Amino acid sequence: MKGLLLCAGRGSRLRPLTFSRPKHLLPVMNKPVLFYGIESMVRAGIADIAVVVPPGYRKSFDEALRGGAPWNIKITLVEQPEPLGLADAVRVAEDYVGGDDFLLYLGDNVIDGPLSPLIERFRLERLEGLVSVSPVDRPEQFGVVQLDGDRLVRVVEKPKHPPSNLAINGVYLFRASIFRAIAGLRPSARGEYELTDAIQKLVEDGRQVGVFRSPYWWKDTGQPKDLILCNQHFLRRLEGLRVKGDIDARSNVTSPVVVGENTVIIDSVIRGPVVIGRGCRIENSYIGPYTAIADHAVVRGSEVENSIVMEHAVLDNVPTRIDESLIGADARVIGQSQPPKRARLWVGDHSQMHLPR
Ligand code: G1P
Repeated sequence: MKGLLLCAGRGSRLRPLTFSRPKHLLPVMNKPVLFYGIESMVRAGIADIAVVVPPGYRKSFDEALRGGAPWNIKITLVEQPEPLGLADAVRVAEDYVGGDDFLLYLGDNVIDGPLSPLIERFRLERLEGLVSVSPVDRPEQFGVVQLDGDRLVRVVEKPKHPPSNLAINGVYLFRASIFRAIAGLRPSARGEYELTDAIQKLVEDGRQVGVFRSPYWWKDTGQPKDLILCNQHFLRRLEGLRVKGDIDARSNVTSPVVVGENTVIIDSVIRGPVVIGRGCRIENSYIGPYTAIADHAVVRGSEVENSIVMEHAVLDNVPTRIDESLIGADARVIGQSQPPKRARLWVGDHSQMHLPR
């Protein structure tokens, strides 16, 4: 069985962070979102994976994935020339898939649970397709399934009147027959080739498509708040105290905390769960629970919690506690003490700042 990860989405709801990197490579607990999907596949025994990417970001994915070297597996990049929808992104990987069965995983989703039960069921019941679903509060924002008992009777993309609260959560299993279903598609009202329409075609052709009611924690990381929730979820699992850097005697560290090599912590309070990467400098600061600080960041005279701080970012004497925030790579947030009291903002397109009044 092969693996296919779709990373062709443009991440408009995560701008400006996604102007300089694909959303799938944004960090959750200092690890790119996409790695969670790859590692789940690897744990399920899949060692041959293709990642579908937009041409403009090929280099970023190449550098992050290094042909699969970090996991000792084979990873092939396949370009989707235009963002024409999920079914189109699957179609561009047809040559790669060949006649094999494959597990499809949407690269901006994180599903925290083993994939092997899905693969076993797909094989045992000789299904033509298997769709993983989770109950949600707002099914109109997802692909939704309609069931008759356990039998799938209909799938519909972002329905105004959802037939159930069971949303497709970004994991599917298919055989090569899905490519024939995709070939017959027409673009939807939003101008995309919808994968749900291809699945509906399989159902209408009388093929056996199963539904896996997933008990696993799941997040579609399309928006800033989702990344922060995902970061919290994985940090909640952190255990112990693993310190490779230096913590001075005036600092106070409450585990679980991870501190990377060459990081120095001076006169600061670190209250876990917290991960801090390599080569960081934390000085006269408070780092509160559910914070991930990436390599080479600097936090000086500042307080931050429940946030993601990316590589080389600087928080310098920020006058208010930073909470539920995403600070991009090389971003600088600086507090100034000289009068007049004012804010000087060099904020990129589509940035958002919520300042205390
Ligand atoms: C896509 C799929 C949808 C699925 C969702 C899961 O939607 O089209 O069927 O429920 O992912 O995250 P999108 O996030 O691209 O709007």
